[in-house]
Amino acid sequence: MTRIELTSDGLDATHRIGRRLGEVLSAGHVIALIGPLGSGKTTLVKGIADGAGVSDLRQVNSPTFVIVNEYDASTDADLRIYHVDTYRLRGSEDLEALGFDEMCAQGAAVVEWADRVPELLPDDRLTLEIIVLNDRCRRLVVSAGGPRSQGLMASVAPSAERR
Ligand SMILES: Nc1ncnc2c1ncn2[C@@H]1O[C@H](COP(=O)(O)OP(=O)(O)OP(=O)(O)O)[C@@H](O)[C@H]1O
Ligand SMILES: [Mg+2]
Repeated sequence: MTRIELTSDGLDATHRIGRRLGEVLSAGHVIALIGPLGSGKTTLVKGIADGAGVSDLRQVNSPTFVIVNEYDASTDADLRIYHVDTYRLRGSEDLEALGFDEMCAQGAAVVEWADRVPELLPDDRLTLEIIVLNDRCRRLVVSAGGPRSQGLMASVAPSAERR
């Protein structure tokens, strides 16, 4: 497992981190987002969708009532992003019943409150844990559980910073 720490000094910085991940996102990638209410999980998903070329970012919101939102990326015509919010799920079985395994096989999955469904997530996932430092600043602890997520992580590693 490899691990890096990033800091974000505001909404835009968090969005940019998401965007860099979205630019290299492909089918089979799983991104697990962990952090308290209002810490910036959905902000990261919006950035990811932006980087993947989702045409209308207004559709990117926490899928609280439907559990899963789907977005089509325009940079890679075959890529579908499954945006999962497990906040109101009773347990992993519910997400399993919704076909989470197939989502991961067919597209890329981004999961808010991923710590609520740990046993469902593949080992090779990129985990972003958000720690709220103050009103504007966040620490992002990014860890990769395998080779595919290490590739994703490279896009946000400090050496890859280009804007
Ligand atoms: N550095 C930052 N990164 C992200 N959001 C920030 C930052 N600083 C302040 N904010 C504010 O924090 C809020 C984050 O909201 P967001 O919906 O992304 O959080 P969330 O973790 O998805 O919340 P929820 O648990 O309700 O789904 C926004 O209001 C945003 O303006
Ligand atoms: Mg959210």
